[in-house]
Amino acid sequence: MTDPAPASARLTLDPAFRVAPVSRRTFGAFVEHLGRCVYTGIFEPGHRGADADGLRTDVIELVRELGVSTVRYPGGNFVSGYRWEDGVGPVRNRPTRLDLAWHSTEPNTFGLDEFIRWTRKAGVEPMMAVNLGTRGVQEAVDLLEYCNLPSGTRLSDLRVTNGAAQPHGIRMWCLGNEMDGPWQIGHKTAEEYGRLAAETARAMRMIDPELELVACGSSGSGMPTFGQWEATVLEHAYDLVDYVSCHAYYQEQNGDLAGFLASAVNMENFIDDVVATADHVRAKRRAGKRINISFDEWNVWYMNQPASQTPRGGDWPVAPRLLEDHYNLADAVVVGSLLITLLRHSDRVTAASLAQLVNVIAPIMTEPGGGAWRQTTFHPFAQASRYATGDVLRVEPTSPTYPTAEYGDVPTLHAVATHDEHTAATTVFAVNRSLDTPLSLSMDTRALGSVRVAEAYQLTAQDPYVRNTADEPDRVFPRANSSVSGDRDGVAVLLPPMSWNVIRLEQAT
Ligand code: AHR
Repeated sequence: MTDPAPASARLTLDPAFRVAPVSRRTFGAFVEHLGRCVYTGIFEPGHRGADADGLRTDVIELVRELGVSTVRYPGGNFVSGYRWEDGVGPVRNRPTRLDLAWHSTEPNTFGLDEFIRWTRKAGVEPMMAVNLGTRGVQEAVDLLEYCNLPSGTRLSDLRVTNGAAQPHGIRMWCLGNEMDGPWQIGHKTAEEYGRLAAETARAMRMIDPELELVACGSSGSGMPTFGQWEATVLEHAYDLVDYVSCHAYYQEQNGDLAGFLASAVNMENFIDDVVATADHVRAKRRAGKRINISFDEWNVWYMNQPASQTPRGGDWPVAPRLLEDHYNLADAVVVGSLLITLLRHSDRVTAASLAQLVNVIAPIMTEPGGGAWRQTTFHPFAQASRYATGDVLRVEPTSPTYPTAEYGDVPTLHAVATHDEHTAATTVFAVNRSLDTPLSLSMDTRALGSVRVAEAYQLTAQDPYVRNTADEPDRVFPRANSSVSGDRDGVAVLLPPMSWNVIRLEQAT
């Protein structure tokens, strides 16, 4: 059988078609006390690569290579039953607790101050979540006092005594986690949560009016309360918060690979709907400011872990292997497409967190006592974080479409570009969603003047299900795309079927 002939696709690169500046916070991630994300993930005292604080330096190097900007902590579902005080002070005095969210035992040998030390070493900004499940206004304010006041109060002095002379200076705070979900410890109605979020935000702002606060939106656009939840919460908290959160996870279902590759359509609709809801509340309140989106959990997640691997009953393990998804090429292409969506909405999605960072539905994997390696999904994230600089551009792509059961006809090309006026570099990020047909992509570059292709990469494979492993960590890796050609008016490149692509243009001298 011969390979299908390429189909044609086009886009236009024009710095005048500006969406918004690239927000570095788009490239955030998430560390939860869940499975092996913390214990034997980022923290493993006694590991040959651990530093004096027990932090794995091999993981820190990969986090830096991944280009992570912010890291949300300590949960997730975990935070809704967490007492932050358990994780500070001398380790020998810290209590062992049951973690009800993940049916695990929490040893508390890693806590807030260790996390902040880790963020400094990894070069990332901490983003803290407060417990609004089993706790409330007072504990949130206490945590803020401990973290951000320089000294001279009971809790800020306690931090100093615990070894952190300088305040942690945490700017971004999540007011709880997924409070709309019946699985959440302390789950609330929108009315109950909206009031609590508003009162917590009001009290926190009495200490520091400049904080950036995130109200919980829906834990998925499929939630029965979606839409109404955001509206009600924002009716209560509009003036007091800066962001509303979105969470979304995707997976291939029932062998529908073509539909899975179109997952970003769901994310696009989700963002549009939340923006519309927030702006509806804005209009009703005649408010000046706009609420932006913190897409602080997103990823591919196969939610079918066998029950035998999920702790239950009297079994409360420490750091069990939970949610250790092993990603393939198709998953990486979907992650790339979701990143394109976040960038395309940079005018309203100004923060995001890939969930999660290490071992738990993560781009970085470790073995206890062993090495650390990159999953397939590491690569689109690292490349987008590295090459997306300056402003996001609207590129108006045109391409053939293909039919999907869930989303109808979907364009095979999904693309966005960034343009950096300081370096004059323009980078195109493009996914070909077709299972079998290459795309011949023509890019109109006339508005950029004279350009040349500086770099072009493709992440693809014949087998959509090929994975990296600890033994073969570079099976799926971005390779140079040598199909690039160009003339005065444009650049053309061949995008293989099921591929993530980066094309970087520089000013020709
Ligand atoms: O990221 C895994 C879990 O997914 C988080 O703990 C929770 O917030 C979400 O449901």
